[in-house]
Amino acid sequence: MSEILPVNPFFTDTTVIPDEYFCDRKQETSAIISEIVNGRNLVLKAPRRIGKSSLIKHVFNQAEINDNYHTLYVDIYGTKNASDFKAELNRCFLNAPFARDSKIRKRVESYIKSIQIDLGSYSESGFSLPKIGLGNIHAAVFSIDEIFDWIDKAEKPGIVVFDEFQQIQDYPEKMAGILRSYIQQSRNTKFIFCGSSRHMLNSMFSNYNQPFYNSASSFDLDIISLDAYTEFVREVFGKYGKIIDSETIEFVYYLFSGNTYLMQEVMKTAFSQTPSPGKADENTLRRSILSMIEKKDADYRDLINRLNSKKERNTLYCIAGEGIATGLTSSAMMKRYDLDNASSVQNALENLCSEKFNIAVKVAKGVYMLQDRLFELWIAYRGGYLQYKMESPKARFEKERALAKSLPEIIPPRKS
Ligand SMILES: Nc1ncnc2c1ncn2[C@@H]1O[C@H](COP(=O)(O)OP(=O)(O)OP(=O)(O)O)[C@@H](O)[C@H]1O
Ligand SMILES: [Mg+2]
Repeated sequence: MSEILPVNPFFTDTTVIPDEYFCDRKQETSAIISEIVNGRNLVLKAPRRIGKSSLIKHVFNQAEINDNYHTLYVDIYGTKNASDFKAELNRCFLNAPFARDSKIRKRVESYIKSIQIDLGSYSESGFSLPKIGLGNIHAAVFSIDEIFDWIDKAEKPGIVVFDEFQQIQDYPEKMAGILRSYIQQSRNTKFIFCGSSRHMLNSMFSNYNQPFYNSASSFDLDIISLDAYTEFVREVFGKYGKIIDSETIEFVYYLFSGNTYLMQEVMKTAFSQTPSPGKADENTLRRSILSMIEKKDADYRDLINRLNSKKERNTLYCIAGEGIATGLTSSAMMKRYDLDNASSVQNALENLCSEKFNIAVKVAKGVYMLQDRLFELWIAYRGGYLQYKMESPKARFEKERALAKSLPEIIPPRKS
């Protein structure tokens, strides 16, 4: 029987990707499995949209894990306190395949009955509330303690993933301390902590004074290599009788600095615009990029309108224009981008990098970039210089990679 192909094989709206359409990550998949099998907890770090969550779900989908472990994936993005955490943990626990266990079911059923009576909905004709399905319960049925205990004592060992784990640092409660004791008591469960705030995760796990100090191995997820991505895209296009050159893929890869989500989004559009049989060339890709930029118009306008002042906007335009911006307070730069004075630029930079806006990031001393490459391209498009941005993306990519690897100079001790 011939394989049923998905309408579009580039998945961007989900983190659950069928193995055939999941690009590479072979080495990372086996490294994570090996850490878990060898009994270690893990901290998985990477910038936004590189593929942390998808990788974890891919790992869960591998037979070695799927057949032998109970897995629980909890995304705590958007939770604000310990009670939100507990509710989300419950929701994920009750939706996990192993929650079909009869003891868990019984407990949930009696809980539903209890809240129905509490709500005063019991009448002579019986319960009047609509029947709540097991998957729809968002309330906290079990205590955190009970959930960890159940997983730890189950017949299979457990793996619990907390995605966007840095979020607990914003809770009013001292959640790190509470969780640490559960994690230390677990005998049969391993934990994976994921997140995009490298700085925050490093301080949680590498700082001697923090509850999680040294409790997990560190795993930095890099971008997918150009070779692996090229092979993947060509193969996927090929399955549908479509062609795309390596150079065209390379152009997209460099332009987006290997950001998985943005590359997949461009490929998704380009794929849909290529007939079968047919070829996607650089023009097809440029059109796809343009349509992505246009789709984000309203969002990016909003973002700019949220900035308080002209000095913030001009500092933003300066970083976008330069791509990798250095010497922002030099007189030449201030003149070119109509910036007032060094201290107002410094203020604007602080705001743009603040948690509130999170638009720019300081990549090294005095060096700034925008967080979102598509936003940078949108500014270039609106400013009429998009063509210039597209001219030599490789040089820009290489400069960015070199910066990421650079280390401030280490001064050797004085010889006596
Ligand atoms: N190896 C891969 N092959 C194909 N598509 C992938 C791969 N990894 C990630 N993606 C796609 O890239 C996008 C971003 O991935 P994902 O959400 O896993 O990243 P993330 O690092 O968890 O992002 P965030 O920081 O926003 O949580 C998703 O749309 C996903 O479908
Ligand atoms: Mg994620």
